[in-house]
Amino acid sequence: MKSKTEKIDPPNVSQPMEDEKRIIIRGGKPLNGQVRIGGAKNAVLKMMAAALLAKDTTILRNVPNLSDVHMMANVLRHLGAKVTISGSELSIDATNLTDWEAPYELVSQLRASFVVLGPLLARFREAKVSLPGGCAIGERKIDLHERGLKMLGAEVKIDHGYVTTSAKKLVGNRIYLDRPSNGATENIMLAAVAAEGTTIIENAAQDPEIVNLADCINAMGGRIEGAGTYQITIEGVPIESMHGAVVDTIPDRLEAGTFMLACMTTGGEILMESVNAHHLYSVISKLSDIGAEVSMYAPDMIRIKSRRDKLKATDITTLPYPAFPTDLQAPIMPVLCLAKGTSIITETIFENRFQHAAELRRMGADINVTSNAAIIKGVDKLMGAEVKSSDLRAAAALIIAGLGAEGVTEVTELKHLDRGYENLEEKFRFLGADIWRK
Ligand code: EPU
Repeated sequence: MKSKTEKIDPPNVSQPMEDEKRIIIRGGKPLNGQVRIGGAKNAVLKMMAAALLAKDTTILRNVPNLSDVHMMANVLRHLGAKVTISGSELSIDATNLTDWEAPYELVSQLRASFVVLGPLLARFREAKVSLPGGCAIGERKIDLHERGLKMLGAEVKIDHGYVTTSAKKLVGNRIYLDRPSNGATENIMLAAVAAEGTTIIENAAQDPEIVNLADCINAMGGRIEGAGTYQITIEGVPIESMHGAVVDTIPDRLEAGTFMLACMTTGGEILMESVNAHHLYSVISKLSDIGAEVSMYAPDMIRIKSRRDKLKATDITTLPYPAFPTDLQAPIMPVLCLAKGTSIITETIFENRFQHAAELRRMGADINVTSNAAIIKGVDKLMGAEVKSSDLRAAAALIIAGLGAEGVTEVTELKHLDRGYENLEEKFRFLGADIWRK
């Protein structure tokens, strides 16, 4: 096996890129009915990387049909894995990997694929992965990944846009993260699985997707405890002892949040099935402050009822889980645009995540952005307009705004939306929205 650097063809994404299409919404229809929430994108992408740890087949269930999942599948195929997707089941046979390099052409399309660094290092003691670079929402550094792998005994070099890492052996260590980065927690966990001795990650990310990943690694033979808390302990096991597993993907809390927020700009009542309310406490608490009635209907069902004329302003600060997620900061903004009074949103995770504010202003919103805060004065109505999405969650925000606006909204740059939402417009149409793609 050798690492290669030749140019490769762009990934053959089986779901067509929807670049040239747009979503058209005739706003003002209340949402009513029941909707099923899919599997979490940010969990499944990392579990796909974990499958590289075993010379065996891992099966992931409840996998959403997203362009990000197809791109990650192409990264794994490039490394030599056999990946097949059948409905919501994904099978990854990583028995015969042929490469330990993930090239720029692939990683630049999907930042999350940077997480193959950890399992490749664990399996081959060597890995080369393109630096993902920044994106529309921020600089997105990798210093914590780098430091963590070095503390496990790996050499890490950054050269010509690539991170190259190698280690004669990996040795467990106590690693403190300056901030609870999801990606760094995941890469360190995935490498430390096969380190000698014990690794302790302090100030680890506590997100449910990290727990799903740890459960997946444990089902494959790893020994991880404490995932979901600030301290994760990983007892190293021989890499040869890792094996395949069948793992369920947790529900997508961000998709669930998106539906709840849409129900608030339109008014109505929806019942979401296949959700986990425990993952959404901070969000549900804020939505209740704003005026929605949210209740747990069954262990995996949430009911939300909301009236447009009852929305009240509130202040929100995004922080690492379990606090209010940065990924719902854009989607909640149109709700606050329609709430009575002045709200302030403070974004502390990403330095450039307010690009949707300018688009919402085109729809009549009164938003003033200063540094990392957006001051939102409630208006009586939003008006349909042609708007452009700048990233995945901004796209969701513009759709939520359009559903609650007067007149027709056209949302462009749908490639962002298709990265993270499966059949979003069909699901909204089923709930009574007038929305289609053209
Ligand atoms: N950071 C550093 N150094 C590092 C790593 C991160 O300074 O070495 C900074 C980042 O620049 C950022 C903050 O720490 O400002 C948080 O980054 P984190 O590593 O937690 O984010 P991530 O793993 O790159 C994931 C999700 C994002 C989500 C964030 C925060 C995936 C594929 N992505 O990104 O999801 O916003 O955690 O919760 O899991 C999305 O789904 O739309 C999305 C962007």
